[in-house]
This record gives sequence, structure tokens and C-alpha cells, in this order.
Amino acid sequence: MSNFINSSIGKKVIMSLSGLFLLLFLAVHLSLNLLTLVGEETYNTAAHFMATNPAMKVLEIVLALGFLLHIIYSLILTLQNMTARPVKYNVPIKGVSSSWESRNMFILGLVILLALILHLINYYYKIKFTDLIKSGEMTEYKLVTNLFTPEYWYYVVIYIVWFIALGLHVNHSLRSSFHTLGLNNKVWEVRLKFLGSLYALIVSIGFTIIPLYFLLSAFYK
Ligand code: HEM
Repeated sequence: MSNFINSSIGKKVIMSLSGLFLLLFLAVHLSLNLLTLVGEETYNTAAHFMATNPAMKVLEIVLALGFLLHIIYSLILTLQNMTARPVKYNVPIKGVSSSWESRNMFILGLVILLALILHLINYYYKIKFTDLIKSGEMTEYKLVTNLFTPEYWYYVVIYIVWFIALGLHVNHSLRSSFHTLGLNNKVWEVRLKFLGSLYALIVSIGFTIIPLYFLLSAFYK
């Protein structure tokens, strides 16, 4: 077993499984946060349920582990690739078979990670480690929407760049996960590529709608 985990394919399988788990999280997180468009009460009720449900506390630990595994193994695999090929081949890197995303997965991952840290400071930290919500000074809804105003236009830009990077990362990672897990054959390859791109588009556009909606609605108040 430890031989498998230490092998190159073992590490890729761990990356794929943790990545697929993170994609599930994204679908739940997107659905929850799209409720901001429904209204303040609906969003606050859902956010409160998520924050107080004991099952969510366990899931939060699993989620943190999923992120950690995914990040640590991406670092290990990238370092391995770099040391395995210390001198770059004298061939054009922009080959026909490799997409921009596939050549820049690590950079995309890094952008996503940095934005995620900012995001956790913006929301998670304020909800879990301050008295803002408990004291009634803030609601989850206000915390989310106050960030996407003309005054903080740069947050809207940062978040949208984040969501585009996330879409590109998801698009490529779904394809390579299916490949690593051996779930592709000639017929399914085309279907999975399509489904992967559709999922990436839904995630990217779905999240982008939220800051854009609140920024634009501030102009029409
Ligand atoms: C406009 C889009 C988004 C909004 C409005 C949003 C909002 C929030 C809020 C309010 C929290 C704190 C929840 C709590 O602790 O009770 C949170 C936590 C979190 N967000 Fe987001 N989020 C967005 C996009 C994303 C994206 C794209 C990712 C991942 C790439 C992400 C990853 C996380 C993680 C890992 C947590 C901590 C775990 C959790 O509390 O569920 N978020 N988000």
C-alpha cells in the first residue's frame, strides 16, 4: 500500500480523488451562496444551518484534509517533474496536444490558493473567530454582500479573476482525473470532456454572478 502511495501513479490517484471531492464541495458551496440572490433571510437561515449542524463540523475537517492533501501532493508532483527533467527539452513546449491550462496547472493552482486564503480571511475568519455575527453587528448576508460594492470594486475584480482561474483549473483537472482513474475510453472521452467543460463553466459563471449582481445592483439603488 505504501509503495502505491509513494509511486507516481499513487500520488496522481490521491490528487484526483481529493480533487473530485473538492469539486463536490464547490457544487454545494455554489448552491448555498447563490441563495444570496434569493434574499437575506433565506441566505442567513441556510448559512446558520450549515454553521450549527454537527455533521458540518466533521465535514469541515474532511474538507481541510482534502485541501491539504491536494495542495501537498500537487507540490510533490510538481517538484518531481522539475527534478526529473532539470534541463528543458529543446522542443517547442506549446505542443498541439497540450492546452494552456495543462501547462499552467501549478500557476493556476497557486492563484486559486492565494485567493482562497484571502477569501477565508474575508469570511470564514470573521464568522468563526470574531463576535461580528454573535453580537448581531453583522449577518452572514451583509458580510458577503458588503464586499461586492463599488467602494470595494477591487474585491469584485480579484474574485472574478479567481473564478476564471478556478474554471480553467477545474476544466483541465476533471479531464486528467478521469484519465488517471482509468475512466476514459474512446466513446466516453468526448462525453467526459464535454461534461468537464460544462461543470467548469457552471462553477465559473455561477460564482461570478454573485459579486457582479451585488456590484451592479448598487448602481441601480
Ligand atoms: C462569490 C462566491 C463565494 C461566496 C459568496 C463565498 C462565501 C463564503 C462564506 C460566507 C464562507 C464562511 C461560511 C462559514 O464559515 O459559515 C465561506 C467559506 C469557505 N469558502 Fe467560500 N464563497 C465563495 C466562493 C468560494 C470558492 C470559489 C471557494 C473555493 C475555491 C470557496 C471556498 C471556501 C472554503 C474552503 C470555506 C471554508 C469552509 C466553509 O466554511 O464551508 N468559496 N465562503
